Amino acid sequence: MKALSEFIKKRISCRTYADRSLEDKVLAELSGYISAAQKGPFGNQPTFKLIHMDNLTPQEWKKLGTYGVIKNARYFLIGTINNTPLAMEDLGYCKEILILKATALGLGTCWLGGTFQASSFAQAAGLREGEILPTVSPIGYPAETKSLTEKIMRRFAGSDHRKPWPELFFANDFATPLTQAQAGKYCDALENLRLAPSASNKQPWRVLLDTAKNTFHFFLERSLQYKMLGIVHLQDIDLGIAMSHFEITARDQGVMGKWQVDPNAPKEKLLDYIVSWRTEN
Ligand SMILES: Cc1cc2nc3c(=O)[nH]c(=O)nc-3n(C[C@H](O)[C@H](O)[C@H](O)COP(=O)(O)O)c2cc1C
Repeated sequence: MKALSEFIKKRISCRTYADRSLEDKVLAELSGYISAAQKGPFGNQPTFKLIHMDNLTPQEWKKLGTYGVIKNARYFLIGTINNTPLAMEDLGYCKEILILKATALGLGTCWLGGTFQASSFAQAAGLREGEILPTVSPIGYPAETKSLTEKIMRRFAGSDHRKPWPELFFANDFATPLTQAQAGKYCDALENLRLAPSASNKQPWRVLLDTAKNTFHFFLERSLQYKMLGIVHLQDIDLGIAMSHFEITARDQGVMGKWQVDPNAPKEKLLDYIVSWRTEN
């Protein structure tokens, strides 16, 4: 099997599905990944479940709404986690690995943090006290043509575009863009981070390389609009997804390092520091 990082460029949000169930072999492999124990870099342990719509009554089925955004999905991947510090980052990190494994199986997926009926999915997931279910994701074979809603959503979010390197990656201070030459063996890891999906394609991640300490500091530039809507946690999920793309690519290339929260990380107005990657080779 190809390395997981190979599927980062293949993943794209899919909102229109072919009206058919998963092949038995594919379902068995996917279910194996989903039921395995997961732990994020901050130690939180999300639990994942695959809901098969065919196993629901028509009433239950109807209630699991996605506001018309998702068409024909027969399966939903749901992830629950205890609402503890950095749980969102861990959920984003662990779930994106499952999303990439689904991509490797030829399946389409889409992160949904807003356009789903949270209470109905919470009921279907059997959500317990203290747990949260911040996102769900349809999974299935992509349809041959996209629905009009999907085309509009992609265009509206600018989903086919990503910010250029100088807006995302910096060297030693936030006035100095990081060049690909300075990124060296981390060039692909950062490029794959840049391709990560994010809520409304806001791409809120910023990375600062401390060249003296060989350490990458990860920050969030939170959107005012998300703060006002009270859904700022979605951007912590974005950061967890970005961490997974960065780490998977680095490890696939034999580049070693580890995550740590650095109490002496640089401070920057308007940015929230989250975590650092300390290189080891
Ligand atoms: C945390 C998160 C929440 C998202 N929520 C939604 C959503 O509620 N509805 C939706 O249609 N897309 C949602 N998306 C998908 C993004 O719009 C999409 O990832 C982005 O536009 C980039 O497009 P791509 O995934 O095709 O690369 C979400 C993505 C993330 C990471």
